[in-house]
Amino acid sequence: MLRLGVNIDHVATVRNARGGAYPDPVRAAKIAEQAGADGITAHLREDRRHILDDDIDRLMDALTVPLNFEMAATEEMQAIALRHKPHAVCIVPEKREEKTTEGGLEVAREENKLAHYIAPLREAGCRVSIFIAADQPQIEAANRIGAQVIELHTGAYCDFHAEGDFDKRDAELLRLREMATFAHSLGLEVHAGHGLTFESVAPIAALPEVMELNIGHFLIGEAIFAGLEPAIAQMRRLMDEARV
Ligand code: PXP
Repeated sequence: MLRLGVNIDHVATVRNARGGAYPDPVRAAKIAEQAGADGITAHLREDRRHILDDDIDRLMDALTVPLNFEMAATEEMQAIALRHKPHAVCIVPEKREEKTTEGGLEVAREENKLAHYIAPLREAGCRVSIFIAADQPQIEAANRIGAQVIELHTGAYCDFHAEGDFDKRDAELLRLREMATFAHSLGLEVHAGHGLTFESVAPIAALPEVMELNIGHFLIGEAIFAGLEPAIAQMRRLMDEARV
């Protein structure tokens, strides 16, 4: 079955706009669990623009589904992950000035450093995932450093879809399909995410090697209009329909 990880970062974005405690991303995570999320994803950014350290503490206590802890490859984040030992750790690139995670991690260029970085996380029992572009050298490098999972960046595919540039979208989809197959052939578990919506999810959900989708911004936005539970239930339905 294709798993759905719901990213609750942007509930914290709304909360932080006023600096108080409302709306609480942990409450959203519990609703997501009830609505059929198979996991919760949260990205503790270095600048703490959305999720805060206390949110991670509370998510670890409150969740019954696995937490996928997204983080940059810094010493600070490694220490936090080793303290909590979440089910999964997803290593993402991070630039302070970016609005969101714009590209995949450059694994090939920093192979040795990353291999040493993820080793203690693996030893602590976390499943280590690397967020990368659908690019063969990056996938090979992720495999060599000992990652168990790769998450393919679907941002470009979603952007081309939203812009109506269907030739480029289809070329990107082909690349994602080929690289999902390639990664799977190496023994890597394949996840995908970034920018997915009701409109763009089906072709990604249909990729047979993809085991998990991580979706956040669209679902939290859609929750304003439809409610969080119906938004997640609809996403779940579209994913399941695409799978058969
Ligand atoms: N996967 C990863 C690795 C991400 O960094 C993000 C964004 O935080 C997502 C999935 C979810 O992307 P979106 O919020 O656009 O659905």
